[in-house]
Amino acid sequence: MEKFVINGGKSLFGEVKIQSAKNSVLPLIAASVINDGKTYIENCPKISDVLVMMKIIEKLGGKAYFEKDDLVIDGRSIDCWILPCDLTREIRASIFTVGALISRFGYASTCAPGGCNIGDRPIDIHIDALKKLGAIVRENDEIIFDASYGLGGSVTLRFPSVGATENAIMSAVRGKGVCIIKNAAKEPEILDLQRYLNALGANVEGGGTDTVVVRGVEKKLSCEVRIKPIPDRIEAGTFALAAVACGGEIRFLEESLPKYLFLSEIFRNNACKMYLKNDKIEGVKVTERPKGFGRVIAEPFPGFPTDLQPQLVAASCFAKGLTVVVEKVFPGRFSFVEQLLKTGADLSVCDNACIIDGGKELNPAETYAGDLRGGAALIIAALGIEGKSLIGGTRYVDRGYEKIEEKFRGLGADIRRVEF
Ligand code: UD1
Repeated sequence: MEKFVINGGKSLFGEVKIQSAKNSVLPLIAASVINDGKTYIENCPKISDVLVMMKIIEKLGGKAYFEKDDLVIDGRSIDCWILPCDLTREIRASIFTVGALISRFGYASTCAPGGCNIGDRPIDIHIDALKKLGAIVRENDEIIFDASYGLGGSVTLRFPSVGATENAIMSAVRGKGVCIIKNAAKEPEILDLQRYLNALGANVEGGGTDTVVVRGVEKKLSCEVRIKPIPDRIEAGTFALAAVACGGEIRFLEESLPKYLFLSEIFRNNACKMYLKNDKIEGVKVTERPKGFGRVIAEPFPGFPTDLQPQLVAASCFAKGLTVVVEKVFPGRFSFVEQLLKTGADLSVCDNACIIDGGKELNPAETYAGDLRGGAALIIAALGIEGKSLIGGTRYVDRGYEKIEEKFRGLGADIRRVEF
């Protein structure tokens, strides 16, 4: 069993390279199923979720391989619309492939997808959207989608689900109809999907707003497309919040990290500064313990990202005073708090809010990561606490961060991955 061993209490200084956004890359891999040609995804992280999506592509008959830092997906030989149950149960993003298969074949079959342990993650919004756009859906052990008569019409999502928005967009790319998705998610990663699909020859408008219009194209889509996804705002935010816990100065080696992407609520706080150049975030500097961050609400974009909520809770344990973090996307996303309490931190969960009275002295502890971002939160806490901490559940962290320990070591942290 692998664990992270962390001797914390060191400030973080230096530069860190930010990967392409996991939440862009995963739907882009799914979308590449529509392409009867080659797709190149630049600076693609070699995280385990990507490796599972690559296996899914191969099970569908395609090829997926890395050329240095670029992921290449060759969709010319994809000839199957049945998603493999063993792999779809490993990863939630597999559900996005349904929309792409519908566009390519008119049909798709999947089992209920898996994912991180952050509470119930149903797929009713996906199914409802595809039904409203005209797909016939049969739900047994497997869920079979028949859209062979073509899709069209309008759907209003009951919640702006990121995945359901992406799935509906992908399903509508090929055909004669026009599909309108209202109350769509507005996350910036959806713009990457639109950019990719339009480069492929699709006709998608409104990505990044609450109404997306997809005009079906009848011709087969087949060309070589190269895409550079946006940088991973969650990875960058994780390093920035680690700086809050540890102090220090971090520069991001990524020329296009726009300031609207993250953390402005946090980094206008007294001791936390963000360096900007032409509205791009160059780095962060934390000179002393900041004051508590007040009330922060994790909600759909442009709100504070739920995927940074656990890391913010951990960082708030080091800020002096109160922070209240309200979770409006995944109300059950506080299971990591139980582990954080082992450090002696003063925090409690009440309904969908976590109240942190920061600035108390914390002790090193042995903890276990039960999900990806909860694991990142435990790493941040351990980096900020003097003494030796151990964190199990490294495989959850590997779902979203490529070699996180190497990147933190590059910033001066003492963190190793050890087999026990
Ligand atoms: C995506 C992100 C994930 C992020 C989340 C919210 C990817 C690969 N993953 O996940 O990192 O945390 O957006 O920003 O992009 N829901 C339903 N029924 C559904 C679908 C969702 O009830 O059919 C609920 C979920 O349980 C959750 C909320 O809607 O409470 C938001 O989920 P959603 O936006 O769909 O998240 P994902 O697309 O799975």
